[in-house]
Amino acid sequence: MALILGIESSCDETAAALVTSDRVILAHKLAGQEAAHRPFGGVVPEIAARAHVEILAPLIEAALDEAGVTLSEVDAIAATAGPGLIGGVMVGLVTGKALALAAGKPLVAVNHLEGHALSPRLIDPDLAFPYLLLLVSGGHCQLLLVEGAGRYRRLATTIDDAAGEAFDKTAKLLGLGFPGGPAVEAAAALGNPRAVPLPRPLVGSAEPHFSFAGLKSAVARAVGDHSASDLAASFQQAVIDCLIDRTRRALQSVQPTALVVAGGVAANQSVRAALESLAAEFGLRFVAPPLWLCTDNAAMIGWAGAERLALGLTDPLDFPARPRWPLDPGAEKVRGAGVKA
Ligand code: KG4
Ligand code: ZN
Repeated sequence: MALILGIESSCDETAAALVTSDRVILAHKLAGQEAAHRPFGGVVPEIAARAHVEILAPLIEAALDEAGVTLSEVDAIAATAGPGLIGGVMVGLVTGKALALAAGKPLVAVNHLEGHALSPRLIDPDLAFPYLLLLVSGGHCQLLLVEGAGRYRRLATTIDDAAGEAFDKTAKLLGLGFPGGPAVEAAAALGNPRAVPLPRPLVGSAEPHFSFAGLKSAVARAVGDHSASDLAASFQQAVIDCLIDRTRRALQSVQPTALVVAGGVAANQSVRAALESLAAEFGLRFVAPPLWLCTDNAAMIGWAGAERLALGLTDPLDFPARPRWPLDPGAEKVRGAGVKA
Protein backbone atom coordinates (compact mmCIF):
# COMPACT_ATOMS: atom_id res chain seq x y z
CA MET A 1 0.00 0.00 0.00
CA ALA A 2 1.33 3.44 -0.97
CA LEU A 3 0.32 6.79 0.54
CA ILE A 4 0.29 9.74 -1.86
CA LEU A 5 0.06 13.48 -1.24
CA GLY A 6 -1.79 15.07 -4.17
CA ILE A 7 -1.53 18.78 -5.04
CA GLU A 8 -3.74 20.67 -7.54
CA SER A 9 -3.44 24.34 -8.58
CA SER A 10 -3.95 24.47 -12.36
CA CYS A 11 -7.00 26.73 -12.42
CA ASP A 12 -8.99 28.43 -9.66
CA GLU A 13 -9.15 25.64 -7.07
CA THR A 14 -6.30 25.17 -4.61
CA ALA A 15 -6.39 21.57 -3.36
CA ALA A 16 -4.43 19.02 -1.35
CA ALA A 17 -5.34 15.40 -0.60
CA LEU A 18 -3.97 12.20 0.87
CA VAL A 19 -5.03 9.01 -0.88
CA THR A 20 -3.79 5.44 -0.73
CA SER A 21 -3.18 2.99 -3.54
CA ASP A 22 -5.98 0.85 -2.10
CA ARG A 23 -8.47 3.67 -2.70
CA VAL A 24 -8.79 5.20 0.76
CA ILE A 25 -9.15 8.99 0.74
CA LEU A 26 -7.64 9.98 4.09
CA ALA A 27 -8.16 13.70 3.50
CA HIS A 28 -9.12 16.05 0.72
CA LYS A 29 -9.03 19.81 1.15
CA LEU A 30 -10.24 22.37 -1.34
CA ALA A 31 -10.20 26.15 -1.36
CA GLY A 32 -12.15 27.74 -4.20
CA GLN A 33 -11.48 31.29 -5.34
CA GLU A 34 -14.86 32.13 -6.88
CA ALA A 35 -15.30 35.30 -4.81
CA ALA A 36 -11.93 36.70 -5.96
CA HIS A 37 -12.73 36.14 -9.66
CA ARG A 38 -16.47 36.91 -9.68
CA PRO A 39 -16.08 40.69 -10.19
CA PHE A 40 -14.24 39.91 -13.46
CA GLY A 41 -16.74 37.31 -14.72
CA GLY A 42 -14.02 34.70 -15.23
CA VAL A 43 -10.77 33.37 -13.84
CA VAL A 44 -7.99 35.99 -13.79
CA PRO A 45 -4.67 34.07 -14.05
CA GLU A 46 -2.60 36.50 -11.98
CA ILE A 47 -5.16 36.61 -9.16
CA ALA A 48 -5.37 32.81 -9.22
CA ALA A 49 -1.59 32.35 -9.01
CA ARG A 50 -1.29 34.74 -6.07
CA ALA A 51 -4.16 33.04 -4.25
CA HIS A 52 -2.51 29.61 -4.71
CA VAL A 53 0.69 31.03 -3.18
CA GLU A 54 -1.20 32.17 -0.08
CA ILE A 55 -3.45 29.15 0.37
CA LEU A 56 -1.50 26.07 -0.69
CA ALA A 57 1.02 25.51 2.13
CA PRO A 58 -1.54 25.85 4.99
CA LEU A 59 -3.95 23.66 3.00
CA ILE A 60 -1.35 20.89 2.70
CA GLU A 61 -0.71 21.13 6.45
CA ALA A 62 -4.45 20.88 7.11
CA ALA A 63 -4.72 17.82 4.84
CA LEU A 64 -1.82 16.07 6.62
CA ASP A 65 -3.46 16.93 9.99
CA GLU A 66 -6.83 15.61 8.92
CA ALA A 67 -5.27 12.39 7.62
CA GLY A 68 -3.24 12.07 10.84
CA VAL A 69 0.01 11.50 8.95
CA THR A 70 3.33 13.31 8.60
CA LEU A 71 5.25 14.00 5.41
CA SER A 72 7.76 11.30 6.35
CA GLU A 73 4.99 8.67 6.10
CA VAL A 74 4.05 9.69 2.55
CA ASP A 75 5.43 7.48 -0.24
CA ALA A 76 5.27 10.01 -3.08
CA ILE A 77 4.21 13.55 -3.87
CA ALA A 78 1.97 13.99 -6.90
CA ALA A 79 1.53 17.53 -8.21
CA THR A 80 -0.30 18.80 -11.29
CA ALA A 81 2.37 19.88 -13.81
CA GLY A 82 -0.11 21.06 -16.51
CA PRO A 83 -2.06 21.75 -18.59
CA GLY A 84 -3.54 24.90 -17.12
CA LEU A 85 -2.82 28.49 -16.14
CA ILE A 86 0.95 28.48 -15.99
CA GLY A 87 1.36 30.69 -12.90
CA GLY A 88 -0.91 28.47 -10.83
CA VAL A 89 0.62 25.25 -12.17
CA MET A 90 4.08 26.52 -11.17
CA VAL A 91 2.94 27.25 -7.60
CA GLY A 92 1.72 23.67 -7.07
CA LEU A 93 4.53 21.99 -8.97
CA VAL A 94 7.31 23.93 -7.22
CA THR A 95 5.66 23.27 -3.84
CA GLY A 96 5.52 19.56 -4.69
CA LYS A 97 9.17 19.56 -5.77
CA ALA A 98 10.25 21.37 -2.59
CA LEU A 99 8.41 18.88 -0.37
CA ALA A 100 9.79 15.94 -2.36
CA LEU A 101 13.32 17.28 -2.03
CA ALA A 102 13.00 18.12 1.68
CA ALA A 103 11.40 14.80 2.62
CA GLY A 104 13.42 12.66 0.21
CA LYS A 105 10.30 11.36 -1.56
CA PRO A 106 9.72 10.70 -5.26
CA LEU A 107 7.84 13.30 -7.32
CA VAL A 108 5.07 12.33 -9.72
CA ALA A 109 4.34 15.15 -12.18
CA VAL A 110 0.68 14.59 -13.04
CA ASN A 111 -1.16 15.66 -16.17
CA HIS A 112 -4.35 17.32 -14.85
CA LEU A 113 -6.34 15.61 -17.61
CA GLU A 114 -5.01 12.24 -16.49
CA GLY A 115 -6.27 13.13 -13.02
CA HIS A 116 -9.78 13.51 -14.44
CA ALA A 117 -9.34 10.48 -16.72
CA LEU A 118 -8.34 8.05 -13.97
CA SER A 119 -10.57 9.52 -11.22
CA PRO A 120 -13.41 7.03 -11.86
CA ARG A 121 -11.04 4.18 -10.89
CA LEU A 122 -10.53 5.78 -7.48
CA ILE A 123 -14.15 5.09 -6.58
CA ASP A 124 -14.74 2.01 -8.74
CA PRO A 125 -12.26 -0.86 -8.24
CA ASP A 126 -14.04 -2.86 -10.95
CA LEU A 127 -13.50 -0.30 -13.70
CA ALA A 128 -11.04 -2.03 -16.04
CA PHE A 129 -9.09 -0.72 -19.05
CA PRO A 130 -9.85 0.04 -21.81
CA TYR A 131 -12.80 2.36 -21.17
CA LEU A 132 -14.28 5.10 -23.32
CA LEU A 133 -13.96 8.43 -21.53
CA LEU A 134 -15.90 11.56 -22.34
CA LEU A 135 -13.75 14.26 -20.76
CA VAL A 136 -15.80 17.45 -20.54
CA SER A 137 -14.33 20.36 -18.62
CA GLY A 138 -13.78 24.11 -18.87
CA GLY A 139 -10.81 23.68 -21.20
CA HIS A 140 -11.48 20.36 -22.93
CA CYS A 141 -14.05 18.26 -24.68
CA GLN A 142 -12.57 14.95 -25.78
CA LEU A 143 -13.40 11.32 -26.31
CA LEU A 144 -10.48 9.14 -25.21
CA LEU A 145 -9.94 5.43 -25.15
CA VAL A 146 -8.20 4.96 -21.80
CA GLU A 147 -5.93 1.93 -22.21
CA GLY A 148 -3.94 2.42 -19.00
CA ALA A 149 -2.16 5.08 -16.96
CA GLY A 150 -0.17 7.09 -19.50
CA ARG A 151 -1.86 5.30 -22.41
CA TYR A 152 -4.57 7.26 -24.21
CA ARG A 153 -6.02 7.20 -27.70
CA ARG A 154 -7.83 10.43 -28.54
CA LEU A 155 -10.80 9.67 -30.75
CA ALA A 156 -12.31 13.17 -30.85
CA THR A 157 -11.77 16.69 -29.59
CA THR A 158 -13.38 20.09 -30.00
CA ILE A 159 -12.52 22.17 -33.03
CA ASP A 160 -13.38 25.40 -31.17
CA ASP A 161 -14.84 25.85 -27.65
CA ALA A 162 -14.86 23.29 -24.86
CA ALA A 163 -18.26 22.22 -23.50
CA GLY A 164 -17.68 23.88 -20.10
CA GLU A 165 -16.52 27.03 -21.87
CA ALA A 166 -19.82 27.07 -23.77
CA PHE A 167 -21.72 26.75 -20.46
CA ASP A 168 -19.66 29.59 -18.97
CA LYS A 169 -20.14 31.88 -21.99
CA THR A 170 -23.86 31.13 -22.12
CA ALA A 171 -24.17 31.95 -18.42
CA LYS A 172 -22.49 35.28 -19.11
CA LEU A 173 -24.82 36.00 -22.06
CA LEU A 174 -27.84 35.18 -19.89
CA GLY A 175 -26.56 37.23 -16.97
CA LEU A 176 -26.47 34.18 -14.74
CA GLY A 177 -23.08 34.92 -13.21
CA PHE A 178 -19.95 32.91 -12.53
CA PRO A 179 -19.14 30.03 -12.40
CA GLY A 180 -21.50 29.38 -15.27
CA GLY A 181 -22.12 25.63 -15.47
CA PRO A 182 -24.07 25.16 -12.25
CA ALA A 183 -25.98 28.44 -12.87
CA VAL A 184 -27.10 27.32 -16.35
CA GLU A 185 -28.12 23.91 -14.99
CA ALA A 186 -30.23 25.56 -12.25
CA ALA A 187 -31.90 27.94 -14.74
CA ALA A 188 -32.45 25.10 -17.22
CA ALA A 189 -34.41 23.16 -14.61
CA LEU A 190 -37.09 25.90 -14.79
CA GLY A 191 -37.22 26.18 -18.60
CA ASN A 192 -38.46 24.35 -21.69
CA PRO A 193 -35.67 22.58 -23.62
CA ARG A 194 -37.71 22.85 -26.86
CA ALA A 195 -38.57 26.54 -26.53
CA VAL A 196 -35.66 27.94 -28.56
CA PRO A 197 -34.46 26.33 -31.81
CA LEU A 198 -30.67 26.13 -31.56
CA PRO A 199 -28.09 24.44 -33.82
CA ARG A 200 -26.37 21.13 -33.00
CA PRO A 201 -22.94 21.67 -34.62
CA LEU A 202 -21.40 18.57 -36.28
CA VAL A 203 -24.25 16.27 -35.22
CA GLY A 204 -24.43 13.47 -37.78
CA SER A 205 -21.09 14.52 -39.27
CA ALA A 206 -18.69 11.91 -40.65
CA GLU A 207 -15.83 13.52 -38.75
CA PRO A 208 -15.64 12.53 -35.08
CA HIS A 209 -15.13 15.93 -33.44
CA PHE A 210 -17.13 18.41 -31.34
CA SER A 211 -17.95 22.07 -31.99
CA PHE A 212 -19.76 24.53 -29.72
CA ALA A 213 -18.86 28.01 -31.00
CA GLY A 214 -21.86 28.23 -33.36
CA LEU A 215 -24.19 27.19 -30.57
CA LYS A 216 -22.89 29.95 -28.34
CA SER A 217 -23.36 32.52 -31.15
CA ALA A 218 -26.93 31.30 -31.68
CA VAL A 219 -27.63 31.80 -27.97
CA ALA A 220 -26.22 35.32 -28.24
CA ARG A 221 -28.62 36.09 -31.13
CA ALA A 222 -31.63 34.68 -29.25
CA VAL A 223 -31.04 36.62 -26.02
CA GLY A 224 -33.88 39.07 -25.44
CA ASP A 225 -36.47 37.05 -27.38
CA HIS A 226 -36.83 34.35 -24.74
CA SER A 227 -36.66 33.89 -20.96
CA ALA A 228 -33.26 33.03 -19.48
CA SER A 229 -34.63 29.71 -18.24
CA ASP A 230 -35.97 28.69 -21.69
CA LEU A 231 -32.66 29.70 -23.28
CA ALA A 232 -30.66 27.83 -20.63
CA ALA A 233 -32.80 24.70 -21.03
CA SER A 234 -32.60 24.81 -24.84
CA PHE A 235 -28.85 25.42 -24.76
CA GLN A 236 -28.26 22.58 -22.31
CA GLN A 237 -30.34 20.22 -24.47
CA ALA A 238 -28.36 21.19 -27.58
CA VAL A 239 -25.06 20.49 -25.77
CA ILE A 240 -26.40 17.12 -24.61
CA ASP A 241 -27.53 16.22 -28.13
CA CYS A 242 -24.02 17.02 -29.42
CA LEU A 243 -22.30 15.03 -26.67
CA ILE A 244 -24.57 12.02 -27.19
CA ASP A 245 -24.31 11.99 -31.00
CA ARG A 246 -20.51 12.20 -30.96
CA THR A 247 -20.15 9.63 -28.16
CA ARG A 248 -22.52 7.23 -29.97
CA ARG A 249 -20.36 7.57 -33.08
CA ALA A 250 -17.23 6.70 -31.07
CA LEU A 251 -18.93 3.71 -29.45
CA GLN A 252 -19.53 2.28 -32.92
CA SER A 253 -15.77 1.99 -33.51
CA VAL A 254 -14.33 0.72 -30.20
CA GLN A 255 -15.12 -2.06 -27.71
CA PRO A 256 -14.63 -0.53 -24.25
CA THR A 257 -15.44 -2.15 -20.91
CA ALA A 258 -17.53 0.86 -19.88
CA LEU A 259 -18.62 4.37 -20.78
CA VAL A 260 -17.14 6.88 -18.36
CA VAL A 261 -17.65 10.62 -17.97
CA ALA A 262 -15.31 12.97 -16.10
CA GLY A 263 -14.48 16.69 -15.81
CA GLY A 264 -16.51 19.61 -14.48
CA VAL A 265 -19.42 19.30 -16.95
CA ALA A 266 -19.88 15.71 -15.74
CA ALA A 267 -21.35 17.30 -12.61
CA ASN A 268 -24.43 18.17 -14.72
CA GLN A 269 -27.30 15.79 -13.84
CA SER A 270 -28.97 15.98 -17.28
CA VAL A 271 -25.65 15.23 -19.02
CA ARG A 272 -25.14 12.24 -16.73
CA ALA A 273 -28.67 10.91 -17.30
CA ALA A 274 -28.35 11.14 -21.10
CA LEU A 275 -24.99 9.33 -21.07
CA GLU A 276 -26.39 6.64 -18.80
CA SER A 277 -29.15 5.89 -21.35
CA LEU A 278 -26.57 5.83 -24.15
CA ALA A 279 -24.45 3.30 -22.25
CA ALA A 280 -27.54 1.14 -21.76
CA GLU A 281 -28.19 1.32 -25.51
CA PHE A 282 -24.78 -0.35 -26.05
CA GLY A 283 -25.14 -2.75 -23.10
CA LEU A 284 -22.26 -0.99 -21.34
CA ARG A 285 -21.71 -0.07 -17.73
CA PHE A 286 -21.85 3.66 -17.07
CA VAL A 287 -19.45 5.14 -14.53
CA ALA A 288 -19.52 8.75 -13.36
CA PRO A 289 -17.53 9.94 -10.35
CA PRO A 290 -19.42 11.67 -7.51
CA LEU A 291 -19.91 15.39 -8.17
CA TRP A 292 -17.07 16.56 -5.93
CA LEU A 293 -14.66 14.32 -7.84
CA CYS A 294 -15.84 15.64 -11.25
CA THR A 295 -14.76 19.23 -10.64
CA ASP A 296 -11.12 20.05 -9.90
CA ASN A 297 -9.71 18.46 -6.74
CA ALA A 298 -6.49 16.95 -5.45
CA ALA A 299 -7.79 13.44 -4.68
CA MET A 300 -7.79 12.71 -8.41
CA ILE A 301 -4.21 14.00 -8.68
CA GLY A 302 -3.14 11.83 -5.74
CA TRP A 303 -4.88 8.83 -7.33
CA ALA A 304 -3.23 9.41 -10.73
CA GLY A 305 0.02 9.62 -8.74
CA ALA A 306 -0.74 6.25 -7.14
CA GLU A 307 -1.45 4.64 -10.52
CA ARG A 308 1.77 6.03 -12.00
CA LEU A 309 3.88 5.16 -8.94
CA ALA A 310 2.65 1.55 -9.20
CA LEU A 311 4.10 1.50 -12.74
CA GLY A 312 7.38 3.05 -11.56
CA LEU A 313 6.59 6.30 -13.37
CA THR A 314 8.22 8.97 -11.18
CA ASP A 315 9.70 12.24 -12.46
CA PRO A 316 12.90 14.26 -12.01
CA LEU A 317 12.89 17.50 -10.01
CA ASP A 318 13.58 19.52 -13.17
CA PHE A 319 10.26 18.44 -14.72
CA PRO A 320 8.85 21.61 -16.39
CA ALA A 321 5.40 23.11 -15.91
CA ARG A 322 3.46 22.61 -19.14
CA PRO A 323 0.71 25.07 -20.12
CA ARG A 324 -0.30 22.61 -22.88
CA TRP A 325 0.00 18.87 -22.45
CA PRO A 326 -2.17 16.56 -24.56
CA LEU A 327 -2.91 13.08 -23.22
CA ASP A 328 -2.39 11.60 -26.67
CA PRO A 329 0.54 13.52 -28.19
CA GLY A 330 0.29 11.42 -31.36
CA ALA A 331 -3.28 12.50 -32.14
CA GLU A 332 -3.67 14.33 -35.44
CA LYS A 333 -4.25 18.08 -35.36
CA VAL A 334 -7.82 19.11 -36.10
CA ARG A 335 -9.04 21.92 -38.27
CA GLY A 336 -10.24 25.22 -36.84
CA ALA A 337 -8.81 28.13 -34.96
CA GLY A 338 -8.15 28.11 -31.24
CA VAL A 339 -7.89 24.34 -31.24
CA LYS A 340 -7.63 22.79 -27.81
CA ALA A 341 -4.99 20.08 -27.42
O1 KG4 B 1 -12.87 20.17 -14.59
P1 KG4 B 1 -13.20 21.54 -14.12
O2 KG4 B 1 -13.55 21.75 -12.68
O3 KG4 B 1 -12.03 22.54 -14.45
C1 KG4 B 1 -11.30 22.41 -15.62
O4 KG4 B 1 -10.31 21.64 -15.59
O5 KG4 B 1 -11.74 23.05 -16.62
O6 KG4 B 1 -14.39 22.06 -15.05
C2 KG4 B 1 -14.93 23.33 -14.90
C3 KG4 B 1 -16.01 23.52 -15.93
C4 KG4 B 1 -16.55 24.94 -16.00
O7 KG4 B 1 -16.64 25.34 -17.35
C5 KG4 B 1 -17.92 24.81 -15.35
O8 KG4 B 1 -18.84 25.77 -15.83
C6 KG4 B 1 -18.32 23.40 -15.75
O9 KG4 B 1 -17.13 22.66 -15.64
N1 KG4 B 1 -19.34 22.88 -14.86
C7 KG4 B 1 -20.59 22.56 -15.26
C8 KG4 B 1 -21.29 22.18 -14.10
N2 KG4 B 1 -20.45 22.27 -13.03
C9 KG4 B 1 -19.25 22.69 -13.53
N3 KG4 B 1 -21.15 22.57 -16.48
C10 KG4 B 1 -22.45 22.19 -16.57
N4 KG4 B 1 -23.20 21.84 -15.50
C11 KG4 B 1 -22.67 21.81 -14.25
N5 KG4 B 1 -23.41 21.46 -13.20
ZN1 ZN C 1 -10.22 20.04 -14.49
